[in-house]
Amino acid sequence: MPSRDEALELLEAWVENPGLRSHMKAVEAAVRSYARRFGADEETWGLAGLLHDLDWEKYPDEHPLKAVAELRARGYPDEVLHAILAHRADFTGTAPESQLDKTLLACDELTGLITATALVRPTGIKDLEAKSVKKKMKDPTFARGVSRDEVRPISADR
Ligand SMILES: [Fe+2]
Repeated sequence: MPSRDEALELLEAWVENPGLRSHMKAVEAAVRSYARRFGADEETWGLAGLLHDLDWEKYPDEHPLKAVAELRARGYPDEVLHAILAHRADFTGTAPESQLDKTLLACDELTGLITATALVRPTGIKDLEAKSVKKKMKDPTFARGVSRDEVRPISADR
């Protein structure tokens, strides 16, 4: 399996936008945290988080098929490829099935909610607590672009 360093090198070669790079790293951090919580393999899950939007900038019309083809050629595990395909089920026809698939989908949205919550606080993400994010999660008028339905399957606070 490719290492995290190799994955990061690939990310830096394909993605220039600093905001998108940050988003991919934020999703990686969240997915890794859930891997620890669920007792799953953190390295494998982390790769799915880190690379899920690899082709978003270069090939938006084919996202994430280009990325998956590239990652398949580089020997990435099937569960990583499946999760990346399933995070755009509407386009790929691959439905989220595994715990990793659902976690990636949820973290893709959840990190958006965390970032939006941090942005409206005077101290930003520093000392941001989970309860503040949960409160914003319940407010449908806040960060409307974040799909609560995709976050709920992994949320302890359903
Ligand atoms: Fe994403």
